[in-house]
Amino acid sequence: MQRLLNKQVVLGISGGIAAYKSAELVRRLKDAGADVRVVMTRAAHEFITPLTLQALSGNPVHGDLLDPAAEAAMGHIELARWADLVLIAPATADLMARLANGRGDDLLTTLVLATDAPVALAPAMNQAMWRDSATQANLQTLLQREIRVFGPAAGEQACGDIGPGRMLEPTDIAARCAECFERGLLSGRHVLINAGPTREAIDPVRYISNHSSGKMGFALAEAAAEAGARVTLVAGPVNLPTPARVDRIDVVSAADMLAACEAALPADLFIASAAVADYRPASCASGKLKKDTASDAGMTLQLVRNPDILATLATHAQRPWCVGFAAETDDVLGYASDKLTRKNLDLIIANDVSQPGIGFNSDDNAVTLIDRSLTPQPLPRASKHKLARQIIAFIANRLNSPA
Ligand code: PMT
Repeated sequence: MQRLLNKQVVLGISGGIAAYKSAELVRRLKDAGADVRVVMTRAAHEFITPLTLQALSGNPVHGDLLDPAAEAAMGHIELARWADLVLIAPATADLMARLANGRGDDLLTTLVLATDAPVALAPAMNQAMWRDSATQANLQTLLQREIRVFGPAAGEQACGDIGPGRMLEPTDIAARCAECFERGLLSGRHVLINAGPTREAIDPVRYISNHSSGKMGFALAEAAAEAGARVTLVAGPVNLPTPARVDRIDVVSAADMLAACEAALPADLFIASAAVADYRPASCASGKLKKDTASDAGMTLQLVRNPDILATLATHAQRPWCVGFAAETDDVLGYASDKLTRKNLDLIIANDVSQPGIGFNSDDNAVTLIDRSLTPQPLPRASKHKLARQIIAFIANRLNSPA
């Protein structure tokens, strides 16, 4: 279930008696760490209230495709992009038929058409309806489109019939959702990632640093672990929990970070997401520096260059596949391409940090991947968790099928 941590799940609910179980399903998904947004069909309102689902999910419930207020808050395309997984539980025979026909006549079906995320259904209906050849034909169509189908289970039904058509229990559905995120793309690989800022001491109480929160690097570590890698995360001073199955080494300065990264070699892949200070004070005072109270004179700090961690590992005898980030405000792609070549990298991730809401210390990011062919591949704005999974999938593909 760990794999549902930080996943964004759109839970679609269509109009069947099993909709009462959707309330518990929201709880199971939330218990496993997922962020859940509920979309209800009109018929679902007859079986369960939006208020219940809003209270349990902690998010507003979406229902109407043509509601300007709801569209202004989070439009259907935005919702489709937000989702890491679209789960429909219960999925009625009618909903399956509408999906199989590619209909987009309400918010839920439109969202399924618009999303790039995996889609899963937990069917629930009377056993005769499930067995009907029309439903079975729709099922085959949906399976061919790689829509996942969880269940149904067989047993006693609300109508008194016995047979297949019962929705799986919420705990089983949540477990099946977690399996959707199981990818072994980096199985057997050792991935080294650095993250966060470095601190360069001026005296025992002051330092030079930057606004990096470590969120991007920690999300990458989580995604790499999810993809089956053994992950070593070298972290500057940040305030984040360690992702599951990740070995974390805490450091403070650029010099510490370089030593920890070199000690972690050999690795198959190095991702340098840390915002390493380029300079440090030439010396660190042993006691707290006092200001000159006799005059208003300023103070001059002499700085010296820090080692370049990424460039050092990219020329190391045990060189891993090297990925850098380029945090830029102007001519982002130009400077990033230059860093790719100058630092002898396999991939650079250009990060436009001039844009509000992305980059340093934000939950979202938008980046462009540039490999040695210098063909830019933009990844549009998304949560750092989602982007990290896309970046890891891209890199794993390159590692697994070198040109
Ligand atoms: O931590 P967050 O708040 O989530 O923000 C994420 C981020 C904006 C910090 C991250 O996405 C990012 O862009 N990291 C790189 C920031 C940076 O320092 O970029 P740079 O252009 O200065 O450096 C280029 C590359 O060289 C980077 O991979 C950097 O880690 C590496 N470098 C730089 C200097 C140095 N002395 N050693 C290095 O290894």
